[in-house]
Amino acid sequence: MSGRYSRRDFIRQGGAMGAGLALANIASVIPAAAQENDSARKSTGGKMLKIGFVGIGARGSNLFRILLELEGVEISALCDIRQDRVTRAQRWVTEAGRPEPSGYTRGDTDFKRMCETEALDLVITATPWRWHVPVCVAAMEAGKHAATEVPAAVTLNECWQLVETSDKSNKHCMMLENYCYFRKTMTILNMIRRGVFGELLHCEGRTQENWIRENWHVFNSDGTMGWLGEHLANRNGNPYPTHGFGPLGIWANINRGDRLDHLVSMSSMGRALKLHAEESFGKEHILAKRIYNQGDANITLLRSANGVSFTLYFGGQSPQPWSPEHKVQGTLATCIGDMFDYRAQDDKWIQAKVYEKAREADLRGRWGNYWDYAEKYDHPLWKALGDEANRYRARDWSGAYDYLMLYQLVNALRRNEAPPMDVYDAATWSAISELSERSVAQKSSLQEFPDFTKGKWKSNAPTDLSQV
Ligand SMILES: NC(=O)c1ccc[n+]([C@@H]2O[C@H](COP(=O)([O-])OP(=O)(O)OC[C@H]3O[C@@H](n4cnc5c(N)ncnc54)[C@H](O)[C@@H]3O)[C@@H](O)[C@H]2O)c1
Repeated sequence: MSGRYSRRDFIRQGGAMGAGLALANIASVIPAAAQENDSARKSTGGKMLKIGFVGIGARGSNLFRILLELEGVEISALCDIRQDRVTRAQRWVTEAGRPEPSGYTRGDTDFKRMCETEALDLVITATPWRWHVPVCVAAMEAGKHAATEVPAAVTLNECWQLVETSDKSNKHCMMLENYCYFRKTMTILNMIRRGVFGELLHCEGRTQENWIRENWHVFNSDGTMGWLGEHLANRNGNPYPTHGFGPLGIWANINRGDRLDHLVSMSSMGRALKLHAEESFGKEHILAKRIYNQGDANITLLRSANGVSFTLYFGGQSPQPWSPEHKVQGTLATCIGDMFDYRAQDDKWIQAKVYEKAREADLRGRWGNYWDYAEKYDHPLWKALGDEANRYRARDWSGAYDYLMLYQLVNALRRNEAPPMDVYDAATWSAISELSERSVAQKSSLQEFPDFTKGKWKSNAPTDLSQV
């Protein structure tokens, strides 16, 4: 099927409109042209984008190696506090037959020298969280666009710093939230835009990680605290909200027709990190005797100005699998399930399911199969670039999503256009961190969201993430 509106879709949407619904979240319909399988790629005029990259660790290396293969990209400068990481990445560049980028390795703030010295279009940071905002601010103040790993910011002050610097310098700042590019989250976005869910009522998202098993920066093997462990020891709320919220924010047009209004948050007690420290290093070790503030489960409830509710789960310390399970509920349908793009019908994953009013006679009060919808509502970006993106799956579980995200960022900037997700998304989604911490600290008290867009959310057009 061409992907244009079918008659059934049209009737569904028309019916909802007739019911006098606000329709904020189905008002943006993907243009028919963008629905074609072979949507034309917009011309970049052959512009080369000069990139400076800061933080080439585990995550940075994956992003970096995709960038190296993207058309129109020149990696001009590299920065890491570790010389060996810069040397390794320089080698990757020269092995690809490109000129060696300059290296910046003189300590924690050498990225400033890089931003001030180098002629760059874009600076990308994949450093630990505390450096995201300093790097992005240094880049924008030096006249470069910025992109940052998630979450963009730790505190509300930092969120404002990003927004104010971007507004003042007229430079873009995109947060690299790759969960927005999962094939399922994008198929659901397409289903929402095409009216399958009617008006959105409620969404749920999870940052359910497995940090202990993956040994992800919680404790270092030498018995010191890892950079993530430091956050978990000192904070208590949802410190990593954007994997959970990012797709929901796009689905529900947050900052583009709607805005987050307030939240409340609650954490369980935290036991897992202390137990892990005892098992790893013994009961007398300094890490075993330390206090860990972060609860092992955090639940945050949010509500938008237009009345959509959201729940977010955060946890990665106690034994549980990685599970990016999301939910969307509308006036006409509901979908729930793991957003990861496996297809096998095995019970290692929480199968995605759909319940649709239009199929109630068939479904008889039971879930329908998500895969009945997957092909029909496959997102235009995946239709256009899915084969290219899937080449990166073998390298890393998120390679395909990272490819689509970097492709859109790089090509938007090459065309002198705004990237698909903006500084207001970065600030709003990241602000959940400090607001949830404040709420937890005050017995789940209500916290109002700042309006980072300063009123522009009312007139901002929704995004469909469909630009190729
Ligand atoms: N989107 C995803 O799916 C995903 C997955 C993993 C990590 N991440 C994010 O990526 C970021 C990095 O995570 P990681 O696992 O690669 O961490 P990492 O510790 O492996 O890598 C961080 C790198 O930054 C360098 N660094 C630290 N401080 C620096 C500074 N001041 N200046 C320059 N370089 C500095 C370190 O030496 C290291 O090479 C984090 O923000 C994390 O949340 C995102």
